[in-house]
Amino acid sequence: MHVKLARTDHPVQEAIAQRWSPYLFDAAPVAPDALRSLFEAARWAASSFNEQPWRFIVALREAPEAFERLLSCLIEANQAWAKAAPVLALGVVKTTFTRGGKPNRVAAHDLGLATGNLMLEASARGLSVHAMAGIEPERARALYAIPEEAEAFTALAIGYRRDAAGASHELAERDRTPRTRKPLAEFVFGAAWGEPAAFVAG
Ligand SMILES: Cc1cc2nc3c(=O)[nH]c(=O)nc-3n(C[C@H](O)[C@H](O)[C@H](O)COP(=O)(O)O)c2cc1C
Repeated sequence: MHVKLARTDHPVQEAIAQRWSPYLFDAAPVAPDALRSLFEAARWAASSFNEQPWRFIVALREAPEAFERLLSCLIEANQAWAKAAPVLALGVVKTTFTRGGKPNRVAAHDLGLATGNLMLEASARGLSVHAMAGIEPERARALYAIPEEAEAFTALAIGYRRDAAGASHELAERDRTPRTRKPLAEFVFGAAWGEPAAFVAG
């Protein structure tokens, strides 16, 4: 199995270093108790005013009709590989606060935190998650009767990675591409925008 351990400049928790977004998924299903733990991890994310604005719509491959419906909410380029995953989910945000109804400016941020938790729980369990912005939110709204005050933002493919044997050359190549990141000095600033903070500068 291909391992793409992050080559970190500073030590991090194993679940973070091990996480990456595969294009090749094994057909093996994800056990319901593992799925419950992934969403439990999402549940305990921090959120503005503890609003918990995230919602997830989930479809398992065992239920072909439901799976096809969710798959149809992805853009074609994502459908091409995500259809192999045993579990698909839509990440939906409730864009207004439940109390008072005012817009929640950071709702999408908090869906991200919940999804990040879910990804790290998955990573610690040897599962993989590949997020997608390439979805058709209005199609999702129509198919799932998503109300006006909510919006489908992302999709997730969840499952076990598989190795490249027998896979399309293009997908195998994507999974072999090394993971790269900007150095800390390019995004941790101190005195002014663009000026690295002292603790990362040296
Ligand atoms: C919110 C979000 C949207 C993404 N959208 C897509 C997508 O539509 N299609 C895709 O192939 N990958 C998508 N990705 C995966 C990213 O390309 C990937 O996370 C990034 O290249 C870093 O690679 P890594 O996750 O393996 O470290 C998305 C990731 C995130 C977090």
